[in-house]
Amino acid sequence: MSQLFQRKPIAALISETEDSSGLRRSLRAGDLIMLAIGAVIGAGIFGAIGTAAAGQMGPNGEVIRAAAGPALVFSFLLLGGACALAGLCYAELASMIPQAGSAYAYSYATLGELVAWIIGWDLILEYAVGNVAVAISWGDYFNTLLRGFGVELPAWTTTGYRTALLSPDPQIHGLLNSAPHLAGIPILINVPAAGIVMLITWLLLRGARESATANNIMVVIKLLALSLFVGVGMTHLKSANLHPFAPNGFTGIHQGAAIVFFAYIGFDAISTAAEETINPQRNLPIGILGGLGICTLIYVVVGFVLTGMVPYKQLEGVADPLSRALQLAGFSKVGWIVALGAAVSMSAVLLVFQYGQPRIFFAMARDGLLPKWAAKLHPRTRIPWATTLLTGVFVATWSLVGDAGETYDLTNIGTLFAFILVSVGVLVLRYKEPERPRPFRVPWVWPVCVLSAAGCLFIMQGLPHSAWWRFLGWLVIGLGLYFVYGHRHSALRRESSRG
Ligand code: ALA
Repeated sequence: MSQLFQRKPIAALISETEDSSGLRRSLRAGDLIMLAIGAVIGAGIFGAIGTAAAGQMGPNGEVIRAAAGPALVFSFLLLGGACALAGLCYAELASMIPQAGSAYAYSYATLGELVAWIIGWDLILEYAVGNVAVAISWGDYFNTLLRGFGVELPAWTTTGYRTALLSPDPQIHGLLNSAPHLAGIPILINVPAAGIVMLITWLLLRGARESATANNIMVVIKLLALSLFVGVGMTHLKSANLHPFAPNGFTGIHQGAAIVFFAYIGFDAISTAAEETINPQRNLPIGILGGLGICTLIYVVVGFVLTGMVPYKQLEGVADPLSRALQLAGFSKVGWIVALGAAVSMSAVLLVFQYGQPRIFFAMARDGLLPKWAAKLHPRTRIPWATTLLTGVFVATWSLVGDAGETYDLTNIGTLFAFILVSVGVLVLRYKEPERPRPFRVPWVWPVCVLSAAGCLFIMQGLPHSAWWRFLGWLVIGLGLYFVYGHRHSALRRESSRG
């Protein structure tokens, strides 16, 4: 029983990271801000924003979430505030415990092994499942690009089975009948989504440093694409589109925030690179908070321009809202260029998350909670190659048949839960180890941590019931695995029973 709450000493965590056989330190503060923007601006702002603005219906016409309308800008401000609080908490822990594994490593040191396992398992939702949503959204923009060349892939090769099943659009739902069948099962697979994931996996297998350089280039392109959208969109703003401003009042703002929270996920992901960061004590907080501030500003502007350009209702069920809005406003060519920027942006997001997930597995395997092979590094590139490949195959397979909306929700609920535990973890550690040096300290720690946790819980409440049930199921499976494997193989347990 006591093992469940046994904490890993921070000194042990830090000395592991100084072990010369570990990961290579090569990232600086600038790289981290670029990594943060690379992780943050992606499917949330290019894809989920449309659903947040226009709301969502189920296949039988039932309301799944209420539209935020132009009041979407308030959803972004709400999220920016909540994420800044959580960002401060991440920064304190990341600077104290500069270790691969992000919230997983922090909770091992603060809340004990069981909670650490739950977080590690939960982070699969943020990283791997989140990437499923990004890959699907990437596929949607890729199809827009192809259409620009007059190429239209058969719908059954670009639509996942779950998307067809859940869509209220008769044409998409009808694919369940019209797609080719194999042994009575409709073949509905999203080939572009799965393809991009495998391509990114290949890039990562070549080594972390090369990937950071590729990421820097992609970040510049994504900022250019969004500037183009804003610059052209501004010329077409109509005040009529901004009425009613909040069609569903605060409910719309709240439920819109719950899905578009996806656009903020990622600033925490850079803490997974702590072990590969030069002077993490200084550089991690700069990377996390700097990246978050820049992104919030961009989202508010993009949200305002999007809902000012077209009536928000026209964005319902639209997979590529920024390009569609430009097309509807008569700027088809610009829409195509933005689609190109969107595809590049989302590739950058895929890269950062496909990079982060194997490092969480790496940290968990090093602690004995996952099998040893998951902590093996490639002798030359020094990257955890087996888990990089495994993550690629898992994400690609799910993207082949999954639905974006469903995976946004699952990712959001899992990530918000991790944010809550990190916020609580800061308080626990302040109480238990007040003397430990903190290169970055959360100011007004009690109100900030409590508000951060409460804010995340509140955003979670805006998600549909289905997301809560799936999340619960995911946690139950995770707990089962812990008691079958992790609990017995824990390195901490072996050490404490020896000593
Ligand atoms: N924030 C990332 C995105 O929007 C996950 O794609």
